[in-house]
Amino acid sequence: MMLSSLLLSPVLLAFSAASAALAAPSALKTFTVPHVDGQDDTPALLAALPDYASNSTILFKQGVHYNIWTPIKFPVLNNVEIRIEGNLSYPEDMATVQAIVASSTFPGHWFTFTGGDKVSLIGSTNPKWGWVDAHGQQWWNKHELTNRPHGWNFAKISNGVIRNMKLWKPVAWSFSASGSTNLHAHDNWIYALSDDMDSAFPFNTDGFSAGGGTDFLLENNHIQNGDDCLTVGNGAKNIVFRNSRCEGGHGLSIGSLGKGGQVADVQNVLIENVEMKNALYAARFKSWTGGKGLARNITWRNIKFDNVRFPIYVTQNYWDQNLGPKPEVTDVTNTQIQDMFFENFVGNINDSPTFFEGTCVSDPCWYYVPGATGREVIIFDLYPETVKNIVARRIVPVTQSWKPATVMCNSTVISTDVGFKCQNGLFVPTLAGLFGH
Ligand SMILES: *[C@@H]1O[C@H](CO)[C@@H](O)[C@H](O)[C@H]1NC(C)=O
Ligand SMILES: *[C@@H]1O[C@H](CO)[C@@H](O)[C@H](O)[C@H]1NC(C)=O
Ligand SMILES: *[C@@H]1O[C@H](CO)[C@@H](O)[C@H](O)[C@H]1NC(C)=O
Ligand SMILES: *[C@@H]1O[C@H](CO)[C@@H](O)[C@H](O)[C@H]1NC(C)=O
Repeated sequence: MMLSSLLLSPVLLAFSAASAALAAPSALKTFTVPHVDGQDDTPALLAALPDYASNSTILFKQGVHYNIWTPIKFPVLNNVEIRIEGNLSYPEDMATVQAIVASSTFPGHWFTFTGGDKVSLIGSTNPKWGWVDAHGQQWWNKHELTNRPHGWNFAKISNGVIRNMKLWKPVAWSFSASGSTNLHAHDNWIYALSDDMDSAFPFNTDGFSAGGGTDFLLENNHIQNGDDCLTVGNGAKNIVFRNSRCEGGHGLSIGSLGKGGQVADVQNVLIENVEMKNALYAARFKSWTGGKGLARNITWRNIKFDNVRFPIYVTQNYWDQNLGPKPEVTDVTNTQIQDMFFENFVGNINDSPTFFEGTCVSDPCWYYVPGATGREVIIFDLYPETVKNIVARRIVPVTQSWKPATVMCNSTVISTDVGFKCQNGLFVPTLAGLFGH
């Protein structure tokens, strides 16, 4: 008796502590966002927000089709959860959206957060409800790139959660979290695939942007889009992205860093257990010549790639395709790379000679690599004397043509063991590339 109660009491204590923690949110007061058919539902929410900026739940109810016809800008929030259980719709008329985006009062995103602590953005697990529909298809059909709305900026928030959110055809740019810290984004679904990925490409439909954030855990997300699945920008630190699926886009990307001489600082990024399907790139790093600063401790590991053109692509010679052909490099600096690892990559390369991706609107395409065979599993386009300890290990590619995979790597620029023979030619792993860790 004595013994069993001694053993049980810590367990009971743990249980009661857990139920107290669970009970806490019920103390929040709830604002249910009202809806009127045929009208914009944003003004009523904005009017109520000052009273619900702390210790509150803001509920978009299941069963309701909300009209978010004008942008929502939240005040600084404290201990607030926003529940998206109904369907939310942007205006269907493109010109209406463009006029709003062009106006001087546009907050920058359709949904803008301005800061706060303990803020949760929670969608629905009901597959029929909780979708935020931006009607992107019509924009993509018309190749309309002017005055597009960004989606969600979960900015300057500490201790944030984004979960079970579902975006349906965002026009462009899904989630960013500029300047936030300690963010857990999980079990979200971004659907930004076009009905026609060749002629109506969903340009710039980036998934998650971790630019400038610290201590992010992004996991169990499903992102189908036409640009970066993940972007890690300048200032980002301690970013983990894992157990996720990406389809259709431009990869798990760091950068671009160092544009216009910027001093970049990116540290401690781990991207693991990710499936990349029908994508242009899987793991990607880009920085500009002339940049400064450092990107260090960056790992991509356990990456499965299926129908990917460039599984591993690192360039320190990035430039903007919109500004014409690649300029002659005259800059003498670049953002330094230190401790960058690619480990356990398995999959198949789309090496079709007629490979085409919907973003290709110039000749040559922006992703064209002079001298490439199309079978490159790794391209290290590095800038001299700026890279310390970059290694690719246990990389197992096949090409769809069954020809051997190749690499591009200039041994004049990098003389350390990179895990494979550094050459423009066959992919030949070194001992470190086969067995190192
Ligand atoms: C919110 O709740 C916390 C904890 O109960 C309390 O300290 C704080 O004063 C509340 N804030 C407002 C604005 O009511
Ligand atoms: C909610 O929106 C999604 C995306 O537009 C749609 O597929 C779904 O049918 C909508 N739900 C209902 C109940 O209409
Ligand atoms: C490298 O980054 C990972 C992921 O953020 C972190 O867990 C690890 O501690 C970092 N290692 C060093 C040596 O900074
Ligand atoms: C390799 O890099 C060196 C130094 O930057 C350069 O001069 C040379 O042209 C490069 N070789 C190839 C094949 O790109």
